[in-house]
Amino acid sequence: MKPTDLRGILRYIPRFRERTFVLSVDAAVVMNENFANILLDVAVLRSLNIRILLVHGAAAMIRQLATESNLTATNLDGVGITDENTLKLSLTAANRLTHEILEGLSTNDLRAASPNAVIGHPQGILNGVDQQFTGKVERIDHEMLQALLTQGIIPVIPPLGFDGEGRTYRVNSDAIAVAIGESLKAAKIIYVTSYEGLTCGGQLIRQILASELDLLLQRQRADFPPELLPKAQFAAQACHAGVPRVHIINGCQDDALLAEVFSNEGIGTLVYANEYEQIRRALKKDIRQILMLTRKSVNSAELMKRTRAEIERQIGDYYLYEIDRNPVACVALHLYPEQRKAELAYLFVSPAHENQGLGRKLIGFVEDKAREAGVHQLIALSTQAFTFFQSKAGFVEGSPEDLPPSRRERYDASGRNSKVLIKHLV
Ligand SMILES: CC(C)(COP(=O)(O)OP(=O)(O)OC[C@H]1O[C@@H](n2cnc3c(N)ncnc32)[C@H](O)[C@@H]1OP(=O)(O)O)[C@@H](O)C(=O)NCCC(=O)NCCS
Repeated sequence: MKPTDLRGILRYIPRFRERTFVLSVDAAVVMNENFANILLDVAVLRSLNIRILLVHGAAAMIRQLATESNLTATNLDGVGITDENTLKLSLTAANRLTHEILEGLSTNDLRAASPNAVIGHPQGILNGVDQQFTGKVERIDHEMLQALLTQGIIPVIPPLGFDGEGRTYRVNSDAIAVAIGESLKAAKIIYVTSYEGLTCGGQLIRQILASELDLLLQRQRADFPPELLPKAQFAAQACHAGVPRVHIINGCQDDALLAEVFSNEGIGTLVYANEYEQIRRALKKDIRQILMLTRKSVNSAELMKRTRAEIERQIGDYYLYEIDRNPVACVALHLYPEQRKAELAYLFVSPAHENQGLGRKLIGFVEDKAREAGVHQLIALSTQAFTFFQSKAGFVEGSPEDLPPSRRERYDASGRNSKVLIKHLV
């Protein structure tokens, strides 16, 4: 399924309707040719009644303006000292980008406004050094933002803070996103960057619990690319401040936003506040998901093909492993009570979640269920994962004679020649 497939998206609608997403977009993405697609994706999210706030950075534009005018900017990304010249560049850059975003949103028939909702103060003197016009978020005028959102207007927020005394400060846009996410109790913050996601030691982190990210930042700080460190810190901080999910995606890639929000796999990094995982019995309405989840594995003959009707007939035998209410793995347990045997079948873990112990967890779960049902011998048939069952789950090689008679008939008829693996449960 393509994540943009409407049927795929539909099941997320009840969960996200009227919820607030904060998009924090780097200037480099606003200036990228793919930004028009991001705005189209924003239009899709709005059409599903998701409330959107768009915070943007200015670094890449400040850099461009500084080069054009032969000036040196002291602070590109809102961290460090902002001198007077850099503040001037920041104001020009921020205004230009806000305008471009408003223009793009208008093109998509989306109503938007740029409010002065970030109340900022100077960062002050840090370690004896005056940070000059670098500011920090003092508070968010959330009533104003709520009023705009209620009217279906997208607030477009520049990386600036206003102090009420006629002074403006350069504030880091990702920090603004955290403050807004916290004060509006956002369901998600999505950092739209020009990177694939968070990496540590060159490896893309697909999903990570905020507390684990804290530990990684403490222990392996040097393994993060320096340009992604602030995003990693802000992502963890946002989760601790009550935002359940923070995504870091590559906004220069087509479909990035919708793929991240509306697919099981995601494409960037997901930082989450707490883990919501469960194994539950599958229901009839899950059959389409099960077929979609396992399609590739069936096509490559790892799993034996099962039709919708076959699954439906035995739906009570199927279990799903869900993370965040997304099915990411499945398994079936078919009982043969007369022989006190059972078959563990259709075990599948989505590639994005492999090697995290889910396969073994599902086997352990099914073993317990089988024991509860008085089963003495658990059987698994496999063509390509038999060493997994042997070395990771304590199965030993058996033979087709171990199969219950009715199963043996189907085994012979299938011609798959799967290896028969058995495990004694008593
Ligand atoms: C086989 C499968 C279920 C494993 O799921 P998983 O969640 O990645 O497994 P776990 O995380 O519990 O275990 C991972 C370990 O098993 C090993 N492993 C994974 N697939 C394997 C395979 N096909 N053969 C041998 N070992 C395998 C991994 O290398 C890893 O080893 P390590 O712990 O030494 O690093 C999953 O890869 C899958 O769905 N495969 C396609 C479908 C399939 O073949 N199903 C079995 C037929 S019923």
